[in-house]
Amino acid sequence: MKHEDIEKLLAEIQALECKTAKEVEEARIRFLGKKGSITALFEEFRTVDKEVKRELGRPLNELKQAATARIEELKEKIGESLASQGSGEDLSMPGEQLPLGSRHPVSIVRQQIVDIFRKFGYDVAEGPEVEDDYHVFEALNFPPNHPARDMQDTFFVSAGHPNPLLLRTHTSSVQVRSMEKMDLPIRVICPGRVFRNEAISARAHCIFHQVEGLYIDEGVTFADLKQAILLFAREMFGPQTEIRMRPSYFPFTEPSAEVDVSCNICHGKGCNICKGTGWLEILGCGMVDPNVLKASGIDPEKYSGFAFGMGLERIAMLKWRVNDLRHYFENDLRFLKEFESSVEI
Ligand code: DAH
Repeated sequence: MKHEDIEKLLAEIQALECKTAKEVEEARIRFLGKKGSITALFEEFRTVDKEVKRELGRPLNELKQAATARIEELKEKIGESLASQGSGEDLSMPGEQLPLGSRHPVSIVRQQIVDIFRKFGYDVAEGPEVEDDYHVFEALNFPPNHPARDMQDTFFVSAGHPNPLLLRTHTSSVQVRSMEKMDLPIRVICPGRVFRNEAISARAHCIFHQVEGLYIDEGVTFADLKQAILLFAREMFGPQTEIRMRPSYFPFTEPSAEVDVSCNICHGKGCNICKGTGWLEILGCGMVDPNVLKASGIDPEKYSGFAFGMGLERIAMLKWRVNDLRHYFENDLRFLKEFESSVEI
């Protein structure tokens, strides 16, 4: 390896001229590519004596820098002249159309519910899908072996433990987690996936979605609950919507109620969707049981609150008159495409 080798290449680089981008790339490969002449000198450099190294190290590096700089310079020059000539391509031509997906109907409904309650000042809270018995049952006033536990057939993850892990059967567990960690007053909405050991049919599935709501403050009454649900129902199903409340039972609320909305298809006259009654059931709700407040360290003498829970698939079924729950889980594009116009993406 000699000084002249380096100088010769340097002279070549300085004299280098190219007319097209392709030529520049070829020159880059010729000098600096894997098998390029400068790369070869670097390979050789590794094998020479220390003294030669000391003498040729710097000029060799300078050669590489000069080559890189010249290639860049040529690239720019060619780019500029191309831009001034115009590239010859029609830049106004429409691009290639990419097929765009659409939101799943359950996601659309979840977003609508969350948006409505956000307007009322609710925050969104989430909790784990694999929960413990305490948060799903015990803290919600389901004592061990209480028959109310049979209302929700549970998938257990670890049995035989005093507080076994399980797949949450309802999003009411997020109520408990919110009460444990949030400051009062609490206003939360908790959307999420829930699991029950149910045979799959047109009306039931082992995985579905719920939204839970919780409001706790001083002096909250059943009238506040009724008003919140009425406002929600009108935003969701239209301004003419009426609600009715029927007494019910849930271990975590007292009193408890189930809420129906007036059928938005027949407007109360009776049709096959509302089975001739003029009403459609949408959710369960009630005043939070004092035992539930106490379990999470809230003083029931000072505070009161209401809670409600609804199934998203059910709301979506009512909104779009889908009569088979299984459609929501099959991801049949013909079904999903029906909802393309329901939301701006
Ligand atoms: N967790 C109940 C269920 O899954 C629904 C529910 C009813 C939630 C009443 C509530 C409530 O917060 O107050 O069936």
